[in-house]
Amino acid sequence: MPSPIQAYVFDAYGTLFDVASPVRRHSQALGERAQLLADTWRDKQLQYTWLRTLQGRYANFEEVTAQALDFALERIGGADAGLRERLLEAYATPQAYAEVESTLRALRAQGARTAILSNGTERWLHAAVDASGLRDCFDHVLSVDGLRVFKPHPAVYGLAEQALDLPAAAISFQSSNGWDAFSAQAYGMRAVWCNRSGQPRERLPQTPTHTVSSLDQLLALA
Ligand code: LAC
Repeated sequence: MPSPIQAYVFDAYGTLFDVASPVRRHSQALGERAQLLADTWRDKQLQYTWLRTLQGRYANFEEVTAQALDFALERIGGADAGLRERLLEAYATPQAYAEVESTLRALRAQGARTAILSNGTERWLHAAVDASGLRDCFDHVLSVDGLRVFKPHPAVYGLAEQALDLPAAAISFQSSNGWDAFSAQAYGMRAVWCNRSGQPRERLPQTPTHTVSSLDQLLALA
């Protein structure tokens, strides 16, 4: 018998919060370059988290996000400094997906504990949670920042076990980033991949236990 799930731990960016929303807020200024900017910004941001972890040269998520934005802006042909600042500012308060709040409240009403486990800085994570009215929806908001490594370093998933004082098998970890879900499953958690955009399965060790297309489907698994 698998151990019953006692806590639900969520990735933040892409899973609870829409990482395309900061660019969408400024889509008028960007015109048809908006999509390329959003995609390049996110791809580079993740690459920099992986590369810096491999290099042993940590810089926090706000710094790598700014560096990735500079790369992406240059790729689309540049933008004025004011727009750069507004895009970064918008990244601190991305929009939560529509089903997030009701799903979290339903899980908590069932007696489950809930947490965020993210590459984000505490400052940005709290700003995003507060701006979306989710402050009372989490027992813990956990940032990699104290570890100075990014996902998918196994120590990051260990943070959730320590904070919740639960074995990995009693934790359900939700991420829309396939590589993050696969890595949590490999760590020993029950992973649920929230495959919002119909991506193919990663060719990485340990396929997540469940795949859903939005977080409300978690309630049927609980
Ligand atoms: C995070 C990134 C991976 O929130 O989306 O950790």
